[in-house]
Amino acid sequence: MPEIDKDFQAAHEIGKIYNSFVDKKILCDFFIESALVFIHAGCGLLFLAGKNDRLWLESSRRPPQQIQPIRETAQKIFEQGKPSFQKSELFVPLIVRNVAIGIAYFSKDSAAGIFSEKDAALASDLAAQLGSALKNILLFEENLKMERLSTIGQTMGMVMHEMKNIVQLAHFSEDYLKMGIQNQNAKNLTLGMAGISKALREMEGFTYEILSLTKDYKIAPEPVDLPSLLEELRTDLQAKAEDGKIRLDVEVEKPFPQSVEGESRSLYRALLNLAKNALEAVRNKERHTEPPFVRIRARVKDKDAYQIVIQDTGEGMSDEVKAKLFQAFFSTKGEKGTGLGLLVIDRTVKAHGGEIHFESQAGKGTTFTLTLPKTLSRTA
Ligand SMILES: Nc1ncnc2c1ncn2[C@@H]1O[C@H](COP(=O)(O)OP(=O)(O)OP(=O)(O)O)[C@@H](O)[C@H]1O
Ligand SMILES: [Mg+2]
Repeated sequence: MPEIDKDFQAAHEIGKIYNSFVDKKILCDFFIESALVFIHAGCGLLFLAGKNDRLWLESSRRPPQQIQPIRETAQKIFEQGKPSFQKSELFVPLIVRNVAIGIAYFSKDSAAGIFSEKDAALASDLAAQLGSALKNILLFEENLKMERLSTIGQTMGMVMHEMKNIVQLAHFSEDYLKMGIQNQNAKNLTLGMAGISKALREMEGFTYEILSLTKDYKIAPEPVDLPSLLEELRTDLQAKAEDGKIRLDVEVEKPFPQSVEGESRSLYRALLNLAKNALEAVRNKERHTEPPFVRIRARVKDKDAYQIVIQDTGEGMSDEVKAKLFQAFFSTKGEKGTGLGLLVIDRTVKAHGGEIHFESQAGKGTTFTLTLPKTLSRTA
C-alpha cells in the first residue's frame, strides 16, 4: 500500500499549507482546487452554514448548471452530519470544533468513472485539515466581532454617563426656574437660567466631541476669535482650578491675528479636554515643590501657523502612558476617565490640518503644543 501512503502524506502536506492562509475565501478556493486534483474530480463546491444552519455556496470550481438540487441534497446530508458517497458524487461534512459548519461536494465527469473509498477518505482528510485551518480564521473573526461589540458597549456607556450628567443639570435648573416663577424670586430665576444655558453648552460640546470621533469627520471652517475662545476657557475652568488651589494662566502673546480659520466649538472642546487633563494631572500629584500651575499660551509661530501651548506642573507621564496616549479608551483615571479626550483632541487638530506634540517628565509635568495653520487649505 505504499501508493496510498504517498497520497495521504501529500494530502497532509497540503493541510500544512491551508494553515498559512488568513483569508477565508482564498483558503476555501484553494481547498476545492487541491481536492479536485487529489480525488480526480471534475466539479467541486463548498457550502458553509449560517447561524440557522442554512447553507450558502462559499466556493465553487467548474460548477454544474444546476446548483439548487445539489444544495438541497447537501442540506439534508449536512443535517445528518455524515459523509455520503454514491458512485460519481461525494459529500463531505466540514467540522470545526466538533460542530459541522459546512459541506463539500465533489462529482466526477461522466466519463471519469466513480469515486473509490480511497477518494472519500482523502477528501475527508483534506476537509478535516481545512476545518482546523478555518478554526483559526473563524476564531480571529469572532474575536474581532467581540472587540467591536465591546467598543460599542464602552462608547454607549460613555454617552449615557455624559447624557445623565447633562440631564441632571437641566433638572436642577428646571427646579430653580419653577421656584423662581412661583415665588417671583429673581435669584432662583437667574440660577435656573444659568444652569439651563450651561446644560445646553455641555450638550453642544458633547455633540462636537462625538462628531469628531465619526469616520468621515470634517470641520466647517469659520473665522475664530482665539483670544475670546481662551477667555471663555479661563472662565469655565476658573472654579475647577481654584478648587484644586492651582494657578490658571491664560495668555495670548501679542501681536496675534484678530481671527484664525477653524471650527470654533470643536477647537474649544479640544482645548477644554487638554486643560482638564492638565488640571487633573496637577491634582493627582501628591507633593508639589513649587506652587502648581496650568499655563495656556497662544502665540504666532510664523507667517502661516500659530501655536497653543498647554503646560502643567502635574504628575507627568511614565513611558507606558506616553506610548498608549492616543489609544481609544486608554485612561489611568479608572471610573473617572473614559480615555477618549486625547483622541478627540488628536482628531480635531488633524481635521484642522495641524499637529500635536507633547513633552512629559514623570513627577515634573507635561507640555502639549498644538501647531495649527492660520488659514485652512480648501482641499483639507
Ligand atoms: N497633562 C497630562 N499629564 C499627565 N498625564 C496625562 C495628561 N494628559 C493625559 N494624560 C494621561 O493620558 C490618559 C488619557 O487621557 P484622555 O484625556 O484621553 O483620557 P482621560 O482624561 O483619562 O479620560 P477622559 O476621556 O474623560 O478625558 C490619562 O488617563 C492620563 O493618564
Ligand atoms: Mg481627559
